[in-house]
Amino acid sequence: MQQVKVTARQPQAHNVISLTLSPIDQPTLPNFQAGAHIDLHLGNGLIRQYSLCHSPSSHHDYQIAVKLEQPSRGGSAWIHDQLKVGDVLTISEPKNVFHLADEAKHHVLFAGGIGITPLLSMAQALLETDASFELHYSAQSPDEAAFYQEMTSSGLQHHTQFYFNREGQCLDAHAVLAQQSQTSNLYVCGPQGYIDYVFECARTQGWEESRLHRELFHADPCANSSDNQPFELHLANTGQTFTVPAHSTVLEVLLDAGVDVPFSCEEGVCGTCITRVLAGEPDHRDHYLTPQEQASNQEFLPCCSRAKSASLTIEL
Ligand code: FES
Repeated sequence: MQQVKVTARQPQAHNVISLTLSPIDQPTLPNFQAGAHIDLHLGNGLIRQYSLCHSPSSHHDYQIAVKLEQPSRGGSAWIHDQLKVGDVLTISEPKNVFHLADEAKHHVLFAGGIGITPLLSMAQALLETDASFELHYSAQSPDEAAFYQEMTSSGLQHHTQFYFNREGQCLDAHAVLAQQSQTSNLYVCGPQGYIDYVFECARTQGWEESRLHRELFHADPCANSSDNQPFELHLANTGQTFTVPAHSTVLEVLLDAGVDVPFSCEEGVCGTCITRVLAGEPDHRDHYLTPQEQASNQEFLPCCSRAKSASLTIEL
């Protein structure tokens, strides 16, 4: 963890601002890899994750972009309404769960809306190393496409295809993926429906899971809540038992009871709350574990996942 100062705040698109975060006590900030994100500890007590959206070769400052979510869960609204140039924030070390694959001969990047942020960092890294790549960027319009001006006035423009929905331009992921070879890897970031669409197209065409990479923004921990069933939760270390109602997450039940559980995103994305499963069958709702890890049922994200069995025992 370290403190940084906000040294620039600029509009990047409708309802999107970028922030430059600069070191206070040292000349540079820690190195990072393209696709990494940091935790921001906000002045209202919330912790939110934002991707670093600039080239990893430049780590004197960090740059992030924040879209004002409507409705906001409190993070983006606080940043848009309260955060000023000169303010000091605490951030985590960069973390990366969204890597460029070293073995790929060609990289196909898909960005939906504000999902451009980690992909912009990847695209810049690939451009700087003369790697083979293409970027497909979908937004409602140029005014709503963050970094549009920057991208169209740099070397990225030769690698980027824009799709503006309000102008009737829609991504045809089937067509894009059908042109790729077996040595291409794909990377996608954006809303869940966008990711599902691109992955479904790839799987239909027989892409192996190892060539598919995604970063999710704004997972909805209440997804499928109409299907939720209450279940019994046992904590192996303390011996406590709780009932998790259909309308509450495991994390909410534990925090209400005063159980000390580390957490951050509350969206099943960051992995901070991970714990081991000792008995019962989890209903994985997270976007952190791989499909193989979920299938093994050894670990569990209490901020969003539930139980398929009537009871679940976890290592807390
Ligand atoms: S708090 Fe981030 S995955 Fe649970």
